[in-house]
Amino acid sequence: MKKMFRAAIERMAPYTPGEQPAPGQRLIKLNTNENPYPPSPQVRTAIVKAAGASLRLYPPPRADALVNAAARVYRISRDMILAGNGSDELLAMLFRATLARGDKVAYALPTYSLYDTLAAIQEASVAAVPLGAGFTQPLEALAGQRAALTIVCNPNSPCGSLAAPAALDKLARQLQGRLLVIDEAYVDFAASHSLPLLKRHQNVVVLRSFSKSFSLAGLRVGLCFAQRPVIEQLLKVKDSYNLNRLAVTAAAAALEDIGWMRRNVERIKVVRATTESRLRQMGFEVPPSQANFVLARIQGQDMGAVAGGLRRRGILVRHFPKSVFRDALRISIGTPAEMAVLFRTLEGLIRPMAGIDGNIAMAGRVRNRVRQRQPPRDPGLARRAGRARDALSKTIKANEPLKPSV
Ligand SMILES: Cc1ncc(COP(=O)(O)O)c(C=O)c1O
Repeated sequence: MKKMFRAAIERMAPYTPGEQPAPGQRLIKLNTNENPYPPSPQVRTAIVKAAGASLRLYPPPRADALVNAAARVYRISRDMILAGNGSDELLAMLFRATLARGDKVAYALPTYSLYDTLAAIQEASVAAVPLGAGFTQPLEALAGQRAALTIVCNPNSPCGSLAAPAALDKLARQLQGRLLVIDEAYVDFAASHSLPLLKRHQNVVVLRSFSKSFSLAGLRVGLCFAQRPVIEQLLKVKDSYNLNRLAVTAAAAALEDIGWMRRNVERIKVVRATTESRLRQMGFEVPPSQANFVLARIQGQDMGAVAGGLRRRGILVRHFPKSVFRDALRISIGTPAEMAVLFRTLEGLIRPMAGIDGNIAMAGRVRNRVRQRQPPRDPGLARRAGRARDALSKTIKANEPLKPSV
């Protein structure tokens, strides 16, 4: 029988998005880095106003109201801005426009796994460069790949690490004539961003998302910033009317009330700091995050059962079973109340795991002291911590029935 699809499509694995609860399902949702706070009230007003007779008409092809608002807020000329149906659509456009079969795309490993899916669709050749020590972006190694398309997810998912603008400036110079995409989906939670690079480099593209800091994941809006010649090529692969009328007007309203977003970001950063220290106290290794999530890791211990245990208790976090970080959980920052439930539940899950005469926190605390170049206070503690760690995988008990936590 004749095949109906390209061999590459039949071969490839689909992208697996994080679980979205069914309507009415009460779960604490810390798995897809949405914002726990609602969007600006001005967004609703704008949507209600736009939801009238004008819906008869196609939307403006270049999402003018949104692009104009972005030009004002970010002080960037309108012809350097392209709006997308989520930054995912902008990524898809970039892959489509730059990569033919066999062309090389380079990015760090692990990073946002949609890049793999988009590369597979294009039949591109992937240079996946492992992260450096301390979860740093392997920028020198990425430059060395001389790929047609290089992507730096900054801050990176799932570890939250941030490459400095000066380092990205150098990478853009090294890649001259080849496109460097800086995926800044989480950058509003970070200490620096890369928009200033646009003036200096013809090959830099910066992507932003409204799904995280602006609390608008349901709206599907992203922005692409680049010099005009890049935008002109991308326009050729864009769907004619890629954003709907409601999304254009609502995202413009969110930008006009950018203070609302910034206040929410500050609240999330406060909770992020307490989350990091609380998880470290429990014994997790937690790299400092510049995003609205944290990575909580216990090296060598598959966290699938813990993620399953949390799920059964009504808490969704992200576990990546096929990644080098299968020994970690990626936890989105929720409200203080949601995080309190998470801490309580997580503690309840990992304490019985450790068995023997202590808990997994002991193993983690020993490791954290070693990292800080301090010997364990009690040499016997290191031995016991090792035994606790060994017992961990044997004693995972995550099969209790679901108890909704809130
Ligand atoms: C690194 C990264 N880039 C892009 C996106 C996609 O964002 P959007 O919702 O704007 O399509 C995500 C979503 O989780 C992400 O993690």
